[in-house]
Amino acid sequence: IPTEERGRTAYHFQPPKNWMNDPNGPMYYKGIYHLFYQYNPYAAVWGEGILSWGHSISYNLVDWIHLEDALDPTDPYDIRGCWSGSATILPGGDPAIMYTGVESTNRQVQNIAVPKNLSDPFLLEWAKLDQNPLMTPVDAIGSEFFRDPTTAWLGKDKRWRVVIGSEINGHGTALLYQSEDFVHWAKSHKPLHFSNKTDMWECPDFYPVSTNDTKGIDTSGLGRTTKHVLKASFFGHDHYIIGTYDSETDDFFPDTDFMDSNVKLRYDYGIYYASKTFFDGAKRRRILWGWVKEADDQSDDISKGWSGLQSFPRTILLDKSGKQLSQWPIEEIEGLRKDEVNLQNKEIEGGNIFEVTGITASQADIEVSFHLPNLDDAELTHPEWLDPQLLCSEKNASTGGVIGPFGLLILASENLTEYTAVFFQVFKGHDKYAVLMCSDQSRSSLREEVDISTFGAFVDVDPAEKISLRSLIDHSIIESFGGEGKTCITSRVYPTLAIGQESHLYVFNYGTESIRIANLSAWSMRRAQFFQSSTKEEKP
Ligand code: FRU
Repeated sequence: IPTEERGRTAYHFQPPKNWMNDPNGPMYYKGIYHLFYQYNPYAAVWGEGILSWGHSISYNLVDWIHLEDALDPTDPYDIRGCWSGSATILPGGDPAIMYTGVESTNRQVQNIAVPKNLSDPFLLEWAKLDQNPLMTPVDAIGSEFFRDPTTAWLGKDKRWRVVIGSEINGHGTALLYQSEDFVHWAKSHKPLHFSNKTDMWECPDFYPVSTNDTKGIDTSGLGRTTKHVLKASFFGHDHYIIGTYDSETDDFFPDTDFMDSNVKLRYDYGIYYASKTFFDGAKRRRILWGWVKEADDQSDDISKGWSGLQSFPRTILLDKSGKQLSQWPIEEIEGLRKDEVNLQNKEIEGGNIFEVTGITASQADIEVSFHLPNLDDAELTHPEWLDPQLLCSEKNASTGGVIGPFGLLILASENLTEYTAVFFQVFKGHDKYAVLMCSDQSRSSLREEVDISTFGAFVDVDPAEKISLRSLIDHSIIESFGGEGKTCITSRVYPTLAIGQESHLYVFNYGTESIRIANLSAWSMRRAQFFQSSTKEEKP
């Protein structure tokens, strides 16, 4: 079976084969980007007791060289797995990795590894410190609830801080540890933050964002024009809150909290988990990586020999509103674009669709902005329509409305037997409009064993202005960015007909009101280049 029929991607990061989950320790060091990842070297399933850190490098975050694994479970303090962690660039410029090791009893501990040879820019080999483990679960910390250290940051008092994900008395917790020398760590008397509305926090992330600039900030950066973001992975999603961090008292004051009833901020409202950011000093930006798992049956992962992707790297910023973040594919993606197609000012009457031709629709990047000439008759929102995901499943793409559904039919077969619909629908509330964004996978594949749940979220934009949508399409993944990256939805789909040249892309409007495409640009995408270093040994 050709690989593309099995959903293998062309420009998303994936190892040559086997299982991958969380991105680990992303960093920029001496002109090279490094990505490590949770990797099972032996099979296409998550491996109990055997996970390694895969390692790949890149000059542009698009094309990659796969190297040998950086960390393997070889020592008592990680013998049952080298689990997630982060890299920190120390003041002299040398990187260090802090990661979770799983001991033979399944106790989770934190360890450090440093490059064996700092003059090797590829950082091929890593040495685990003799002092490992450096942190063990003490006090009320459960031995299996202590993992995923963040990148560390340096306070004005010259002490390092790092956050570890945990669950204390059933509450998701960001434990705070401090160190003077990066080797000896002491638990702070209070956590950085916790929530009694969630369980275990996996893969926390804590970093500054600028309130008046689109540049990113180093993790140790502090200032009057910064806010801090705390991200935690729980309930299957990556949730975040924005707040103010007092670096002297280590207090974090969030503007809104996790699982507040009316603001549940997520990086992505589709399939996206265990993400991690890093500061790219070369281009002064903060970049986000996230694990996008398969929505396929495990037996299919085994037969195709691989499982898991990383999202295309995104720059992440505080949105102008200050109330949420916004994300956008890094600019390097533009180097993959070819066959540009453009279209302006095209009206689509209610009930119509038209095809975007001239590109390879299974491997594409499309940006479109819609203008909605008449909002007067928008349907009214209902108080019980608060859950956007539910709303999207009820109002699927084929149920007509007034202002929408309108958007894209992606990875569509010619007769529309298969398609994934990414669309908007506009409703009128008592004082403002609500813009719903949906990704409807219910018709994405004729295969029966795939998960076709619908995803949805609101987009905080004024529909009297333009509404924009960008989608990255890559065989089995669709990453969609609504409202210039305010709302992101990633989905995995496994078409059986709409593959390769048989795949089509349409713009549709199933509302009764006409809409207008203000601008549409679409491109075929080249394949990113993936090399395997000759030193990479295959494990038996
Ligand atoms: C998140 C996670 C982490 C852990 C790793 C193990 O997906 O469960 O908490 O370190 O994966 O692979």
